[in-house]
Amino acid sequence: MDKLILIEEIKRLKKEKNAVVLAHHYQVEEVKEVADIIGDSLELSRKATEVQEQTIVLSGVHFMAESVKILSPNKKVLLPVKDAGCPMADMIDEEKLEAFKARHPTGKVVCYVNTSAEVKAKSDICCTSSNALKVVNSLGEDPVLFIPDQNLGNYVKKYSGNKNVIPYNGYCITHHRARKEDALKAKAKHPEGLLLAHPECQEEVLEEADFIGSTTAIINYAENSENQTFIIGTEMGVVESLKKQLPNKTFYLLAQSFICSNMKKTRLEDVYRALKKDTYEIQIDEQTLQEAKSTLVNMLAL
Ligand code: 13P
Ligand code: SF4
Repeated sequence: MDKLILIEEIKRLKKEKNAVVLAHHYQVEEVKEVADIIGDSLELSRKATEVQEQTIVLSGVHFMAESVKILSPNKKVLLPVKDAGCPMADMIDEEKLEAFKARHPTGKVVCYVNTSAEVKAKSDICCTSSNALKVVNSLGEDPVLFIPDQNLGNYVKKYSGNKNVIPYNGYCITHHRARKEDALKAKAKHPEGLLLAHPECQEEVLEEADFIGSTTAIINYAENSENQTFIIGTEMGVVESLKKQLPNKTFYLLAQSFICSNMKKTRLEDVYRALKKDTYEIQIDEQTLQEAKSTLVNMLAL
């Protein structure tokens, strides 16, 4: 189908089906263009609770659609591409979490939002990259089992008041690829640029950064800074969002490897099919949903 016709059909189906399209910043531009709301994973699940529409098409990866479902259990939540997953979230499951807990029986489990509903259900409190320090600081001196991202875990260990943080050994295959040399090269090439990096990057990259923050924190920093040029140390979709939002500023991607192939799987055709055929509906069993919800609610209560 022609792109313009597809866009019109998506608009028509949204009305007909009483549906709304939410897209993560890492999605391709054509998908973000048909989205009603663009945001990071936490913003999307929060905003999903506020929309009136009964059907939510979540253009992102599986754990994000699950988080939306957990917080809006009475809505129909659709993920347009069934196998759009997060390899880091897949690095831990219930069994691996149980084994990790058995090795550190006194620790509280802080799970990054990039985890499955089953893993959230077996954790104590959730966090995102924007509130990880706050969440860990709220737990006092207790040992913290931080899952699954070792880089975010190490960042939290370094900057929170709790030195008893034990990170799991997962990592984001996109952010973990960037190395110190990439940061040094980009800074030498664009000396006027400030390096803004996501805490999923390795410590050697974060040490070179002028600012460390989540997707939204990076966007807000660029918007509020007096500086005109920025080197972005996160997924390329954020650079695209920034160029649109702040056309008078200049943005460079830290390294060409910053592409999340799972995030790029969703195309306009998939959003159209999701709306037309109700694919693929997120289903979570009631007990898992309730347990995972309390982990998310513990975070939101902060
Ligand atoms: P946000 O929570 O900032 O949306 O990030 C999700 C993610 O997958 C980062 O790689
Ligand atoms: Fe997962 Fe990394 Fe992709 Fe984010 S960028 S969805 S953490 S693989």
